[in-house]
Amino acid sequence: MNDIIKGKWIGKPLDRVDGPLKVSGAATYAAEHDIDAAIGFIVEATIAKGTIASIETANAEAAKGVIAVLTHENAPKMAPWGDGADDRFEQSHGVLVDGTIRHYGQPVALVIAETLEQARHAASLVAVTYDEQAPALGVDRADSELAEGLDGGFEPTNRRGDFDQAWAESDLTVDLNYTTPHMIPAAMEPHSAIAEWDGERLTVRNSLQVIASGVACLANTFGIDEENIRVLSPYIGGGFGSKLGQHYDTILAAAGAKKLNRPVKVVQTRRNLFHAGPHRARIEQRIRLGATRDGTLKAVNFETWSTQAIGYFYTEGPMASAASAYRCDALHWTGKTRQANETLNDSMRAPGEALGGVTFEAAIDELAEKVGMDPLEFRLKNEPTEDPASGKPFATRDLVECMKRGADEFGWADRPKEPRSRREGRKLIGYGMASAIRGNMMQEGSCRIDLSAGGHLTVKMDMTDIGTGTYTILTQIAAEALGLHPDDITVDLADSDNPATAGSGGSFGAGTSGSALWNACIALREKLATAGGFNIDPDEIDFDEGTMQAGDRAVALADVLKDSDGFSAEGNIKPGEEHEDYVQNSYGAHFCEVAVDMDSCEIEVRRFVSVFSAGRILNRKTAHSQCLGGLVWGIGGAIREELWMDERTGGYVNRDLAEYHVAVNRDVPKCDIIFLENPDPKSNPIGTKGIGELALCGAGGAIVNAIYNATGKRVYDLPVTLDKLL
Ligand code: MOS
Repeated sequence: MNDIIKGKWIGKPLDRVDGPLKVSGAATYAAEHDIDAAIGFIVEATIAKGTIASIETANAEAAKGVIAVLTHENAPKMAPWGDGADDRFEQSHGVLVDGTIRHYGQPVALVIAETLEQARHAASLVAVTYDEQAPALGVDRADSELAEGLDGGFEPTNRRGDFDQAWAESDLTVDLNYTTPHMIPAAMEPHSAIAEWDGERLTVRNSLQVIASGVACLANTFGIDEENIRVLSPYIGGGFGSKLGQHYDTILAAAGAKKLNRPVKVVQTRRNLFHAGPHRARIEQRIRLGATRDGTLKAVNFETWSTQAIGYFYTEGPMASAASAYRCDALHWTGKTRQANETLNDSMRAPGEALGGVTFEAAIDELAEKVGMDPLEFRLKNEPTEDPASGKPFATRDLVECMKRGADEFGWADRPKEPRSRREGRKLIGYGMASAIRGNMMQEGSCRIDLSAGGHLTVKMDMTDIGTGTYTILTQIAAEALGLHPDDITVDLADSDNPATAGSGGSFGAGTSGSALWNACIALREKLATAGGFNIDPDEIDFDEGTMQAGDRAVALADVLKDSDGFSAEGNIKPGEEHEDYVQNSYGAHFCEVAVDMDSCEIEVRRFVSVFSAGRILNRKTAHSQCLGGLVWGIGGAIREELWMDERTGGYVNRDLAEYHVAVNRDVPKCDIIFLENPDPKSNPIGTKGIGELALCGAGGAIVNAIYNATGKRVYDLPVTLDKLL
């Protein structure tokens, strides 16, 4: 294992290096750049399917301050949606291409004016008529087909073992149908962009998780070379998957700027984003589980039905939660979907496990109860020795340690076994648990570092910091590897002119970008060692506080640097064979206490103890924040969040944060977050594993299981709101 890492900087709860910029308002977000831009405002379609019969823009054009109104009749040429690449983030996202409407809220015009108020008012003057067609909306099991693939790289079907036989051999079974609603990521910073053209060269400042594929998307949309595109996204106010790809703000800002030959800014409104930003689709799930009387899990069958936006192939797979969870004789799943005239369904925080971590873990709870076993004991008994879905070995496995540690810290042994048996006045108290499992992904990435003659290090890559703390952890990695102080390090991210990475997504960001940087630092250590006159393995040299030391030799970095032009190095990473030969996961266990009011059925989550194992922890403070965020999402998903579709139009009726309920401060109790630190050498050179999405996985499961323990009622239609408990 990596023994250069001594933990001088890596692992420390270092404050965010960009914290002072953010709290003082000096970190420039996409819409805040000081560029003299005209302002675009989006006019949305009010039908789900059809074509534009007429679009009347004269009144809008005549309104004060209006510069232009773009429609499909006069917009700059863009390739049709989906052209140019199979990858959904690289393909054309052309809009105003023709008068075809695929979903409610699709832009039909962009009104560009001198001010936001002028553009917004004029947008209300654009009159559109449609030839409407009957839309396909909602899940329809009979009209569904096998998905092309499931998020997280899972096949749409899995057939390990003989399910029928295992089911027949089961003494006790559950056959459960769950529904989960449409949900929206609702990042605090709305999707925004400022675009400007200089001849054929396009520069976009926007809010984007993955820069390189975003460049490809613009190239495919506008038919220009990638070399002529620069995308910058230095500060991002949350993404959660909704900013993995380019969206209407960016495409329309670029189209508008091209038309006007002047910079154009488009900031989506919160209301826009409910229809124009990607969201999590409503999914129906059927879960069948069978066990023998002694609590041996025999059979698992997990079927899902969902929808896809027209021409956009993305299907979430809640069965991911079953893939690596518990030993069984047969594990089957099927993911079906239907192309529907709904807004874009795409990855949203912990795609797959965010849902399966509720439903599958609730189904396991129900089966354990039938067997007559404590749900913790049931899980411990069915701990697998190999991956249940694939039969491959696990790279690491410490789910049992997470569960045992969490049970101890929580006091699980004192849980009342009988549901509805503990009361405090008019409140029913319940306790629930669930496990957390999330695939650990790695991607390709590159990094360049430059150490100046003055001893200042600059790190360059197109990696993004979506609020997770990337600037900080990369600073810590470079400080650790090169023995520099964080003040002597500048991290330059999210610029397409920098070396390419896979950006932020799927919890692969820190491991991928951190490893590329680590490898660059290793290459630089070699150069510095040679320049310092060492002819030993650089790994044997201690780089600390600006000095290289081995045995009784010590050389100051400043002395090596002072007569040089500085030193540079590059580092690359890509997932190795360990990611093929082993199943890689991060693990956790949640224990939760709820109180349910006997009269109003209001649910209060009162306490969480969650234990996580995600390899080496790079920064205990930012890691803690990530996990706390996961628990907050878990509460939202279990008891709050739900988007209601108007079945006539495909639009959402609760399209603001007053009516769409996310978990708020008042909903979040004391959360004890504990890390078991097990650096994983099979994951990457720094031994980290993805942590961003882990805590969300299973958090909602623990809550719904606790609600059952409190009330004796199981709810299959999520979220569990008080009306369903009355
Ligand atoms: Mo994440 S939903 O892969 O940004």
